[in-house]
Amino acid sequence: MAKVLVAGAGTMGTGIARVVAQHRHDVTIMDSSAEQASKSMAAIREQFDKLVDQGKLGEMEKAQLVSGIRAVSHWPEEPFDIMIEAVAENMEVKQQVFRQMEALSTVQTVLASNTSSLGISQIASSVQCPDQVIGIHFFNPPGVMNLVEIVKGIHTRSDIVETSKQFVLSIGKKPVEVKEAPGFVVNRMLVPMLNEAIFVYMEGVASAEDIDEAMRLGANHPMGPLALADLIGLDVVLHVMETLYREFADSKYRPAPLLKRMVRGGMLGRKSKMGFYSYQ
Ligand code: 3HC
Repeated sequence: MAKVLVAGAGTMGTGIARVVAQHRHDVTIMDSSAEQASKSMAAIREQFDKLVDQGKLGEMEKAQLVSGIRAVSHWPEEPFDIMIEAVAENMEVKQQVFRQMEALSTVQTVLASNTSSLGISQIASSVQCPDQVIGIHFFNPPGVMNLVEIVKGIHTRSDIVETSKQFVLSIGKKPVEVKEAPGFVVNRMLVPMLNEAIFVYMEGVASAEDIDEAMRLGANHPMGPLALADLIGLDVVLHVMETLYREFADSKYRPAPLLKRMVRGGMLGRKSKMGFYSYQ
């Protein structure tokens, strides 16, 4: 059992914390907003209640799992084995969080980022121990998606890579090691496809429902690209596209103008209750 800290109690942080707790690790969720931290805890309890209702979890087991999680709004003072940052996709914010995490680390601690596309080595440049920094990239929804990309930075030590892989296996996921590159493997291919769907919608080729239906039935995708963009968060989709566009300097990665307009207008998908669909 590892002592795990998840920094950032948004969609991904909450989902990651729940999966980690479900596999009997001791979890601390840290968010500087006390309101967000308690919302996250409430969402995890709700998910466990659902499992109890489905007969997949007993009441006693649920109580044990819940007692293994705490949500805090101030940085704790004790050391952790694994720390996973899942805050906003902003380099400065991430580097600040990493400096806080470094203060709670030992020489063996894994300092991980769940970034969708930012450079691990750049995040690592903010701390004294860049060899302990790695990407542990989960997919949304973290409770359901089985893949985790393990992204090695230029300085990452091999024992940190190994500990990260063992940790990912311990929570029932499949780790895939990828080199540090914009969008890693999945986002580099998946997100441009979502962006293309937004172009198709913007050009009026078909309605949102029909675009999604076409890709569900015509390509056997579990959900349509516009519904998936709403699930991931349109701000995250835009951020990945902007990173790919900037890093590769290739026009094939230009974000759809409609995507930019929607994000600027606060339409972020499910999390803002409005995207290509309404979630009121
Ligand atoms: N959180 C937690 N659990 C969820 C969930 C959520 N948001 N959405 C669905 N689930 C669970 C349900 O509880 C259900 O579990 P159960 O079988 O134990 O009851 C199971 O998933 C199946 O759910 P549903 O029957 O309601 O719905 P679907 O069968 O349509 O599955 C889906 C929903 C799993 C989201 C499926 O549509 C899917 O796999 N979609 C594609 C998701 C995807 O591609 N994710 C990757 C995005 S890229 C990314 O995240 C990287 C980032 O960096 C941008």
